[in-house]
Amino acid sequence: RKRTRIPHLRAMKERGERWAMLTAYDVNTAQIFDEAGIPVLLVGDSAGNTVFGYDTTVPVTLDEMVALTRAVATGAASALVVADLPFGTYQASPEQAYLSAARLMKEGLAHAVKLEGGAEMAPTIERLTRGGIPVMAHIGFTPQSEHTLGGYRVQGRGDAAAQLLEDARAVRAAGAFSVVIEMVTADAAAAVTAQVDIPTIGIGAGVDCDAQVLVWQDMAGLGSGRTPRFVKQYADVRSVLTDAARAYAADVAAGSFPAAEHSFES
Ligand code: KIV
Ligand code: NA
Repeated sequence: RKRTRIPHLRAMKERGERWAMLTAYDVNTAQIFDEAGIPVLLVGDSAGNTVFGYDTTVPVTLDEMVALTRAVATGAASALVVADLPFGTYQASPEQAYLSAARLMKEGLAHAVKLEGGAEMAPTIERLTRGGIPVMAHIGFTPQSEHTLGGYRVQGRGDAAAQLLEDARAVRAAGAFSVVIEMVTADAAAAVTAQVDIPTIGIGAGVDCDAQVLVWQDMAGLGSGRTPRFVKQYADVRSVLTDAARAYAADVAAGSFPAAEHSFES
């Protein structure tokens, strides 16, 4: 399989071919998802929740994102690797954004970056794109603004549908190569997908987006908490690991591990 590149994503939209994105935060999952044919891997700042155990994505640092991104890029032979710019590392100015994004590319080996925000981020998206950094935008519910938005709420209802379309058009005009649309009504996301010519990647945004994204621990059933309504769980990795850990501990307690085949003779 050849490396996924940005023009391939646009071509898939033109052909009406849907595709799936998954998050990844380490080399093993990057390899597994890459070999499973996932064309785009997102090193999400959802790592704040899924890897580091924080309540929100706000505390995630650029250093943390760089380290996770380098691991994923090392494991991804074919997938396009997109890294999230974490909170506070791009909102101050387009220059701050450029310096932060350049670190994700140079040190993290990312192929593109993602940032949250619509029309207000247009000058920043333009600056990054002109400087050789492809940008995936992220509109609708934007988790880094959880404290401003008043918690997890569905976006794009009523008048907000027009604002969502305006945001999508603005990020497209600024040069974004794709846009994540999170937790908005299916109708609002469908309208954006029909009227904007870059790929839309939905999460809790209905079936009419060009692509979908899920956090892998949600998709595979690794986490312990409640998952949002928009998640479909495809495996029960948590119980597989729990059973493995218990079986190992029981073998050790019983003296049945290590056996002769795991031991070295003199
Ligand atoms: O951080 C993340 O995982 C994300 C996706 C859920 C879109 O931003
Ligand atoms: Na994110």
